[in-house]
Formats: sequence, C-alpha cells, structure tokens
Amino acid sequence: MGRFEHKVIWITGASSGIGEALACEWSKMGARLILSGRRESELEKVKAACAHSELCTIVPFDLADQRQVEAAADRVLQQFGAVDILVNNGGISQRSLAVETELSVDRRIMEVDYFSGVALVKKLLPVMAERKSGHIVVVSSIVGKFGFPLRSAYSAAKHALHGFYESVWAELHMQGVRVTIVCPGRILTDVSLHALTKDGTPHGVMDHGQKNGISATTCARKIIKAVGRNKKEIYIGKMDLLMIYFKRYIPWLYYLLVSKVQPR
Ligand SMILES: NC(=O)c1ccc[n+]([C@@H]2O[C@H](COP(=O)([O-])OP(=O)(O)OC[C@H]3O[C@@H](n4cnc5c(N)ncnc54)[C@H](OP(=O)(O)O)[C@@H]3O)[C@@H](O)[C@H]2O)c1
Repeated sequence: MGRFEHKVIWITGASSGIGEALACEWSKMGARLILSGRRESELEKVKAACAHSELCTIVPFDLADQRQVEAAADRVLQQFGAVDILVNNGGISQRSLAVETELSVDRRIMEVDYFSGVALVKKLLPVMAERKSGHIVVVSSIVGKFGFPLRSAYSAAKHALHGFYESVWAELHMQGVRVTIVCPGRILTDVSLHALTKDGTPHGVMDHGQKNGISATTCARKIIKAVGRNKKEIYIGKMDLLMIYFKRYIPWLYYLLVSKVQPR
C-alpha cells in the first residue's frame, strides 16, 4: 500500500482519461479518494471500478461555475477536514484558430483550465499551510511550455498555470506545501473529442496524435511516482516532448517546426 495509504486525494476530472486512471492507480494503494467531474454517472462507474470503492467519495460539480467550485471545496473541507493531495486535472482542450474563436470560448477555457483550480487552491491552501503539509498537483500540458496552432486559449491557460503554481510553491514551500506541475504530451484519452471548437461546440474527433499517444494508465503511474518523489515539474510523452527542449535551447528550430504545422 505504501505512502499513499489513507491519504485524502481529491482528483478533478476523475470521470475519464488521466483522472480516471489516477483514481484507479491510487485506489490500489489504499488512498481515500474524492472524485470530481460533471458527469455523475461516469464518476459512479469510476468509483465502482476502483479497488477500494468504499474509500471513494463522489463530489460532482462544474469547474466553469465559480460558485459550484467554492461550494465543492467547502463540502470537502467540512467532510474531510483537510486534503493531503489536490490534483487539479479537470480541463478542456481547443481545436480552433485564434482569429475565429469566440471570446466566450477563450473565457470558458480560462475558467475551466485555470481559474477553477486557482479557486480550489485558495480554499485549501490555508488548511495545508496551517497543518504544514499538503501537495498540489496540477496537470498542465506540453503546450503550457510553447504555443501551438489551434490551441491559443488552451495554451494560454496552461502557460498561466506555471506562473501561478510556481509562485505558490515559492511562497509556501517553507510551510510544507508541495507543488508538482505535470506536462503531458499526447495521451490516449477523449481529450480531443471533448475539445472546444470556435463556437464552443465539441470537436468530436479522436485526433491522430491522441490515438497514438501513451496510455492514461502509464501517464497516471508516472504522475504518482513524481508526486511520491516530490518532483516540481515533469514531462510525460514520447517524441512530442522534444518541442519543449527545442523551444528552450534551439528556439529557431521550434519556430521552423511550428510554422510547418498545417492548422486543420
Ligand atoms: N490527453 C492528452 O493528450 C493531454 C495532454 C496534455 C494535457 N492534458 C490535460 O490532462 C487533463 C485531463 O484530460 P484528459 O486527457 O484525461 O481528457 P478527458 O478524458 O477529456 O478528461 C477531462 C476531464 O475533465 C473534466 N472536465 C472538463 N470540463 C469540466 C467542467 N466544466 N467541470 C468539471 N469537470 C470538467 C471531465 O469531466 P466531465 O466531462 O464529467 O465534467 C473529465 O473528467 C486536462 O487538464 C488536459 O488538458 C491532456
């Protein structure tokens, strides 16, 4: 069972993909899980599939609605007293050109991918700092490290995560608060199906890149390992990770490669 046994771990976006896989893996280790997402029926299925479903609590809410986000945090704190590990994983991607995307879609992506997690952190941090213990895990993306066609709002929201969570770490690491930023490349989940198009309707297509991505279970295992080792930032993927290094060390190559991508 190990170090995660009996730990209270709150996973947003637990109804599918990476969040679901994290729930399954952490449940095997005897963690007490709080599973969130909008689709209650899917959360019930994930709970039922967990090795210790008796240790799972479902807290459905919409990350796009600040009142629901804060109410969920209040409920969790009331019920559990404190959260050992918060995993801000719930998120939505994008498949649309910046110039065509309605501003309301940009705002929705920022709300779900950035502000909702910030709101949860503001609720939970005081308790973590008081207990001198707590770990915040945030799922960013490789496009949190560089821009990419058809991802303007998504990439912007993921970039914003780095500034916020690095600052939180800098402010609170002396009070025992840990932060791990996860940057996945392409992972085989429904993320492209759920991604928003220019008018906010779902893309509804399993992208080639996703189909050939690594499995959500492999991704979840790497995340759990990194959390156990208190890593500050990790990259999970295949060749797609190279773009991070090109942008950082050989920027002209990054600009050349990204200019060749045909936005479709
Ligand atoms: N798959 C990849 O290639 C990849 C790469 C880089 C980063 N990521 C990031 O990984 C995270 C998980 O994505 P995934 O790949 O596992 O995709 P996914 O299968 O589409 O899962 C997304 C999760 O977020 C939840 N969610 C979305 N909008 C929400 C809302 N308004 N309120 C509450 N929950 C919401 C969904 O739950 P409900 O639909 O039930 O609300 C779902 O559980 C995301 O932050 C994504 O940006 C994924």
